Amino acid sequence: MLARSGARTYRRVSLETSTLTMKTVLITGCSTGFGRATAAYFLAQGWRVIATLRDPSANTLAPCDRLQVLPLDVTNPDSIASVIEASGAVDVLVNNAGIGWANAIEGTPLERVRQVFETNTFGVVAMMQAVLPGMRAQGAGVIINVGSSTTYRPLPLLSIYRASKAAVNALSECAALELEPLGIRVRVVLPGQAPGTEFGNTARAEIAAGGGFPAAYAGFAEQAMANLRKQAASGGVTEEQDVAEAIFRAASDRECPMMLPAGADAVAWSLQV
Ligand SMILES: NC(=O)c1ccc[n+]([C@@H]2O[C@H](COP(=O)([O-])OP(=O)(O)OC[C@H]3O[C@@H](n4cnc5c(N)ncnc54)[C@H](OP(=O)(O)O)[C@@H]3O)[C@@H](O)[C@H]2O)c1
Repeated sequence: MLARSGARTYRRVSLETSTLTMKTVLITGCSTGFGRATAAYFLAQGWRVIATLRDPSANTLAPCDRLQVLPLDVTNPDSIASVIEASGAVDVLVNNAGIGWANAIEGTPLERVRQVFETNTFGVVAMMQAVLPGMRAQGAGVIINVGSSTTYRPLPLLSIYRASKAAVNALSECAALELEPLGIRVRVVLPGQAPGTEFGNTARAEIAAGGGFPAAYAGFAEQAMANLRKQAASGGVTEEQDVAEAIFRAASDRECPMMLPAGADAVAWSLQV
């Protein structure tokens, strides 16, 4: 066939080459917010995207032959095993799925503490453990964990959420050292406050369902929440696009710093530590 048609052979080789070089990213939590924006951004850059959602029927990403939508709950080991089996080779994992919480320590049931850590921290570890055998076999890979700018600065009522994200920073920094010799990079992208995503609404609903702030903290909590809203209203916020671009940089730029702030407010905070 080589001898019969040089042009045809050239076309086939070039197609195979483009398939071979097309990178695959697996992103968690793509129903809304940063996850959905990041999936759309990677698709626009020509990547193959595995967009995962707890409920795939909630997908609002436009259809694309490079897009695969799969169900994934990062707190469920069977769900993780299924997604890894269905994904094939993964070049980049983006651990984006996360839940918020704001309340005093006294106003936070231990069950809620466990839920926050199950998703924001243990879910990240479980996903890393799931993709690492494949990345080791490839001798290459990038893991990007979505942290939070709250780890740059302590704020009242965020103790549990901030601790769940500080743990992600700490484990990522250590993992980066042990994985680098295997050709695998680990980075953390730290978004600032993003009122445009569902994050705040979901957290507020959880707080209300849990009975709100304890009476002893009510006045203080109201003021602290008002301060957060004031900061957002004054324009110092993070847009979904900021986070998508930062994650893409972490995936594609070997010189990307270990901890990369995303959004005007996050960048400002990172310069003050
Ligand atoms: N927005 C902010 O101000 C802000 C600031 C700093 C950092 N972050 C971090 O950025 C990440 C994305 O937040 P966002 O602002 O885009 O919030 P979002 O709009 O609420 O999106 C969160 C995503 O995580 C998914 N998720 C929650 N629990 C999950 C689980 N157990 N398994 C799989 N997916 C799960 C949600 O899916 P469902 O639709 O199924 O609930 C949703 O797709 C989070 O890690 C968050 O902590 C957010």
